[in-house]
Amino acid sequence: MPDTVFVLNGPNLNLLGTREPEIYGAETLDDIAARLEEKGRALGLAIEMRQSNHEGHLCDWLHEAQGAGAKAVLLNAGALTHTSLALYDAIRSIRTPVIEVHLSNPAAREAYRHKSFVGMAAKGTIAGFGAFGYELALDAAARL
Ligand code: DQA
Repeated sequence: MPDTVFVLNGPNLNLLGTREPEIYGAETLDDIAARLEEKGRALGLAIEMRQSNHEGHLCDWLHEAQGAGAKAVLLNAGALTHTSLALYDAIRSIRTPVIEVHLSNPAAREAYRHKSFVGMAAKGTIAGFGAFGYELALDAAARL
């Protein structure tokens, strides 16, 4: 059985491809999933890709990742990144390493995107490389 990496995506990321493409790019979440699965095969990793617009689902899936013995979680929490103490606590509550991912670089955007509850609890962050950032994060997960 290959190790599994959970890839969890938060609010509005279901609309990737049509949502503000000048910021987030033209690729859909399905495109990203396909690329991760291909890369995962090369790295010997299975990918469990999910998206929800609801904070509680993301908390539940972080807990599930630990229960399932996942190797790592890649987490793009969308706007919840900047608001969710519950996600901060959930990441700190599990031993599974969590890698924060963003398509854009929130540090170079509006001030209200500069604080990251996810980043304060995560192992590390990859931001600003568009959809390719998910692949960079998978490489990082493979080396943990
Ligand atoms: C995002 C950045 C967040 O600030 C924003 O709310 C998103 C997407 C990104 O991937 O660049 O929804 O997480």
